[in-house]
Amino acid sequence: MPINAKAAELFKGFSKLERKQRLTRLVEMGALSPSDIKFLNAGSPIKPELAENLIENVIGYFQLPLGVATNFCIDGQDKIIPMAVEETSIIAALSKTARWIRNEGNISTETAGNTIIGQIQVGRVSNFTQFKKHIKSNKTMLIDAANRDVAHGLVRRGGGVTDIQVRLVERDDDHEMAVVHVLADPCDAMGANILNQICEYLKTPIENLTGETVTMCILSNLNDLKLTRARVVLRNIDPNIGEKLAEASLFAEQDPYRAATSNKGVLNGIDPILIATGNDWRAVEAGIHAYAARDGQYRSITKWRMQEGDLIGTLEAPIVVGIVGGVTRLHPTAKMCLNMLEIESASELARIIAAAGLVQNLGAIRALTSVGIIQGHMKLHIANLTLGAGAKADEIPLLQKRLEEVLAFRKRITLSNAIEILKELRNELPLPIKSKKRSV
Ligand code: MEV
Repeated sequence: MPINAKAAELFKGFSKLERKQRLTRLVEMGALSPSDIKFLNAGSPIKPELAENLIENVIGYFQLPLGVATNFCIDGQDKIIPMAVEETSIIAALSKTARWIRNEGNISTETAGNTIIGQIQVGRVSNFTQFKKHIKSNKTMLIDAANRDVAHGLVRRGGGVTDIQVRLVERDDDHEMAVVHVLADPCDAMGANILNQICEYLKTPIENLTGETVTMCILSNLNDLKLTRARVVLRNIDPNIGEKLAEASLFAEQDPYRAATSNKGVLNGIDPILIATGNDWRAVEAGIHAYAARDGQYRSITKWRMQEGDLIGTLEAPIVVGIVGGVTRLHPTAKMCLNMLEIESASELARIIAAAGLVQNLGAIRALTSVGIIQGHMKLHIANLTLGAGAKADEIPLLQKRLEEVLAFRKRITLSNAIEILKELRNELPLPIKSKKRSV
């Protein structure tokens, strides 16, 4: 759409429009067609009102496939894990790897620490030593006030603000920056909203106590005081396989180029559960990447080693999630997925997520160090290509078979191959099918 006065006119008051008017306006703008509107209105089993309460400028829902990973036994408990994801073969690889572990080993998990971190910045502190002294000597008063006036709900549930610390952060000029860390236990919530409220509430007392100016208040996603760990043991593994997996691990631990891809594979197991349970996957992603670079070099968050004939895998990362608050209980699909997991606490959800990330990583490096990634993806990739080429139900099995043959021969296959082969197939097919096609 050109940038002009008419466009500016059409944007005016856009966010105040009713959804129906909004859609009409988008047609006027040329952004949507009447058939798009029909598609959006046929939409989703979830009412548009829910979306209207969550975000602005709603036009509909974006639907992702929702599947389940099977074969998981975590800390001795069988789990069916819901995953909302579009990437071919994530769930298949995860379920297959979980079956391997179920038969030959086990998965255990734990959490370390329970506090999240809020930050209050004093951009240019005039006297850091004095600032720190004032905060330190009034720490109990500040904690009590925040718990009394803001975090009373958390306190009732056994959480709330637990500590206040002061850090000196270097600047690139002659000034100094002070940052106050507010530590709070968010119980079963992810805690972002309440912690932001706590930090904003503390701004005035901190300014009054110290005479300094607070520049901003916000939680940190680098939750290194609330870590989740998962551990996989595969007993008596073939030493050739085990050594290759350990080599793959070393590669990702030492080389940031490989670490980024390896961690992406771990997140293949993590993000879909975050999405399915209505959790903030951007926050968890940011925390994981920051944690992966905590010693100054970006590294994998998983590690695999051989130990006395067993393969041991570990994952450690901040995975801060909620099972109350946010959309976790508002979104009917998220609610259903949380129920499916049969969990009682946010930390239990974080531990399942960590386990899925570690197992997904094992599946990926097992494939990469043996047959390669293409073969594992191919069955579903061929199914995607078949649909992408426009095959009808009665054409699908034959087209898939032909594509498998071509793949075995050429070792690669593309959408244009699929379209070409479908064309050839249609020319070869007996008349009744051809005429059916023509009448469509
Ligand atoms: C692809 O989505 C994920 C992998 O690249 C992960 C990895 O390389 O470990 C296969």
